[in-house]
Amino acid sequence: MLHNFGSINLDHVYRVPHLVHPGETLASRAYQVGLGGKGANQSLAMALAGGRVSHWGRLGRQDAWARDRLADAGVEVTHVELVDEPSGHAIIQVDDHGENAIILHPGANVGFSQGHRDALCSVAQAGDWLLAQNECNALPALFMCARELGLNIAFNPAPMTEEAARLPLETCQLLFVNRVEAAGLVGLPESSDAQALLEGLQQRLPDTETVLTLGGAGAWYQSGGTQLYQPSLPVKPVDTTGAGDTFIGYFMAARQEGRTVSDCLELAAQAAALCVQLFGASESIPHRAGVDHALSQYHANRLA
Ligand code: RIB
Repeated sequence: MLHNFGSINLDHVYRVPHLVHPGETLASRAYQVGLGGKGANQSLAMALAGGRVSHWGRLGRQDAWARDRLADAGVEVTHVELVDEPSGHAIIQVDDHGENAIILHPGANVGFSQGHRDALCSVAQAGDWLLAQNECNALPALFMCARELGLNIAFNPAPMTEEAARLPLETCQLLFVNRVEAAGLVGLPESSDAQALLEGLQQRLPDTETVLTLGGAGAWYQSGGTQLYQPSLPVKPVDTTGAGDTFIGYFMAARQEGRTVSDCLELAAQAAALCVQLFGASESIPHRAGVDHALSQYHANRLA
C-alpha cells in the first residue's frame, strides 16, 4: 500500500491570453472550479493507473464532493477528514501556450497535528510507501516516524521552500524534483544544466533515488552511479497543470507493480503527455487504458 499524506485543493482556473503583469487587470476567457492539489492529483493519478493508494488529507466540510471524486476513482479515503476550516485552494492562470502561474492558499492542508502523524504511523506497515509533497505541514516529524517504522518515503518538494530544503531528505528512498526544486535543494541557479543538478543531488543525497523532471526536455532517473534518460513524448500542450503530479502517480503505480525503472519512466511520461493535452488538473489525468493504448501506438509508429 502507498499512503499519500497530501494536499487537497479546489482549483479556480482562469484561461488568459498571457499571465497577468504587475498592476494589470486582465479579463479571463474561461473559468472553472475543480479538484486539485498536488497530493490529490498524485493519488488520483496513482489510482487511475491501477495502483493501491490511501490518501491522508483534510478538506472543508462543504467540499465533501472532492473526497467522493477521489473515492470514485479508486482512492482509499478513510483518512480524508472533513473539517470546519476552509479547504485549501489555488488560483491558476493558464495562458495560450499552456503555461501556468499558481497562487496557493493552504487552508485545511496545514492543520495536521501530531495525532494525524501517530494515526498514520499506527496503520502503516514496514515496507509500505509514504508519499508526500510540500503543501501540508508536519513533514519533519512524519518523515522521522516513517523512517523508524521502515516505510519507504517518496517526496516531491513542491512547491519549493527554504523549509523543504532543510527537511531530513536523507530519510527518503525516492525524490521527485523539477528544475526549480532541484536547484533549490542543491543551491545552484535554475539555469544549471541537468547534469550539474544531478551531480549536486548525488552529492547531497547519495543514497536516494532521484527523478528529475524537465517538462518538454524529458526526465532523468539517478541512483548511485546509474542514470537513465526518458525523453518526453512529442505533443502540443494546452495546459501543463497537474502534469508533474500525473507523472509521479503513474511512476509510483508502475513501481508498485514491480515494473523496471525504464518502464516506470516511460509509462509516467506517456501519462503526462496525455495530461498536458487537456485543460484542468485532476480532470486531465488519463485512465490507464488510454495510457497503455497511446504507448503501444507510439511504439508501433516508431517501428513503422
Ligand atoms: O500541481 C498542480 C497543483 O498545484 C494544482 O492542482 C494546484 O492545486 C496546486 O497545488
